[in-house]
Amino acid sequence: MCGIVGYIGKRDVAPLLLEGLQRLEYRGYDSAGIVVTSPKAAGLKMVKAKGRVRDLEARVPKRFAGTTGIAHTRWATHGAPSDVNAHPHLDPENKVAVVHNGIVDNAAELRAKLEAEGVVFASETDTEVITHLIARSQADSLEEKVREALKHIEGTYGIAVMHADFNDRIVVARNGSPVVLGIGEKEMFVASDVAALVTHTRQVVTLDDGEMATLKADDFRTYTTTGASTNATPETVEWEAASYDMGGHDTYMHKEISEQPDAVDRVLRGRIDDRFSTVHLGGLNLDAREARSIRRIKILGCGTSYHAGLIGASLIEGMARIPADAEPASEFRYRNPVVDPDTLYIAVSQSGETYDVLAAVQELKRKGARVLGVVNVVGSAIAREADGGVYVHAGPEVCVVSTKCFTNTVVAFALLALHLGRIRDLSVTDGKRIIEGLRKLPGQIEEILKTEDEIKKLAKEYAGAQSMMFIGRVRGYPVALEASLKLKEISYIHAEAYPASELKHGPLALIEPALPTVAIVPDDDLLEKNRAALEEIKARSGRILAVAHQPQEKADHTIVVPKNEDELDPILMGIPLQLLAYHTALAMGRDIDKPRNLAKSVTVE
Ligand code: F6R
Repeated sequence: MCGIVGYIGKRDVAPLLLEGLQRLEYRGYDSAGIVVTSPKAAGLKMVKAKGRVRDLEARVPKRFAGTTGIAHTRWATHGAPSDVNAHPHLDPENKVAVVHNGIVDNAAELRAKLEAEGVVFASETDTEVITHLIARSQADSLEEKVREALKHIEGTYGIAVMHADFNDRIVVARNGSPVVLGIGEKEMFVASDVAALVTHTRQVVTLDDGEMATLKADDFRTYTTTGASTNATPETVEWEAASYDMGGHDTYMHKEISEQPDAVDRVLRGRIDDRFSTVHLGGLNLDAREARSIRRIKILGCGTSYHAGLIGASLIEGMARIPADAEPASEFRYRNPVVDPDTLYIAVSQSGETYDVLAAVQELKRKGARVLGVVNVVGSAIAREADGGVYVHAGPEVCVVSTKCFTNTVVAFALLALHLGRIRDLSVTDGKRIIEGLRKLPGQIEEILKTEDEIKKLAKEYAGAQSMMFIGRVRGYPVALEASLKLKEISYIHAEAYPASELKHGPLALIEPALPTVAIVPDDDLLEKNRAALEEIKARSGRILAVAHQPQEKADHTIVVPKNEDELDPILMGIPLQLLAYHTALAMGRDIDKPRNLAKSVTVE
């Protein structure tokens, strides 16, 4: 949510920063801006624009030379998207430039105080207070000015700061919003995400909360906000630049849906132990004795990750026979939950940055809970905050809406459930059965992907609907929830998800020919009950699209998916519905990778 990028070196900075912004655009795309300078330049040059990075690019003059610069792509929190609210924010003397990702919680109070001292604000943003505080500091160095300013700031930030009087450096700081340094040869980069760095360098330093850094062309230094040196050493990024490209697909979403066979293969790789029909999860940090003493598991996540957590809870309950449930992390913290020492908490997050999840983890840890992470981004804030966990190894996910990360997260939960189950009372035979099922997944996903043309035709039919209903029972319900979220996010068609068993308790009133229902109908012990729900819908002239293991007589259309073990069926049943959402949105001409009002990595509350 909001992307920052910066560069200091010898190259022409504007094209580098614009390219970096393009790669970070999924973090926010309602306005963008850039400021540049060079050692010989007299001051700072800035351009900002409401809209996408391409709108900014169109405004950058041909002669916009500089070798140092910072830039930003915004997802608005304080103040509507506009040229003036776009970052960077400069002080009235055009000396200090700040780009910021996060929220200044006490911005109103600081603004009132500064205004009372005569400061005139140019924008409505919370960020501008940081600029003025830095500009008004009497400290001798830029580092000290930034440090003094940050003492007043409550909230979250990843910031990059330039100053016309100290134009040999960029100073950055982190508290709650990611800041990654890219270490090059006589050039340094900074960004919110490695996605903007990997085309230039794979040597990175991820700042911790409370950490700052000074970047000069041939040198960098890290230290805390209290001034103590931290001597961070660079690490090599796992992914290459090509992993962040579209790879011949028209959208990242399509690419990421198509990558699922490989992604699932990756999350399984090296983890299965056939000798004992179990799995090894190296980073779990939970020994067998501890695993046996768990009385309850609570899974916390947001949006799609919460839905993956719901499936995870049922996998754990089913295989390990530990009572487990999932809850939106965004709600959990505010109901003052009882934190029980015998409960294992699991935080789920693709990005590892989601503020609501991170804050829940921090609250749990303050209260002495043990928290594991199921996270995609290695070394991300939630991964670092957790006591251990399972990486989902889905690879970079660039589309704002999650697809392959959802699938891989559920597979990671299946591995965790199997691991806990085998430590407790899951039999060898059942362990073997699940392992065989897991091994079949990549091939079965391939099979589903081959039905894309058929799904595309169906999507054209359903694209005209004003609203859609999704139903599923027990294991199928989270699949319905996720499919309905996917459809509404990218097509803007209103969609509701209900447990099939709840239809007759109210939502049945909505059923009519104009409201299609997508029904999840696995071939398991609930098949007849699910068929009864289809009968009820058909009796009210509702149109039905079923996702099932065999054609459903009452359905107008059935998407047939391959059968796996009952426990693993939800993983496969979600995939055609990703394609359905995709092709529905495509038929409606939507901006699939960047749906309106959204951004990836929600680092604000
Ligand atoms: C929907 C989607 C979001 C995220 C949610 C949590 O397609 O991607 O609902 O799942 O914002 O994000 P992470 O998983 O990064 O914590």
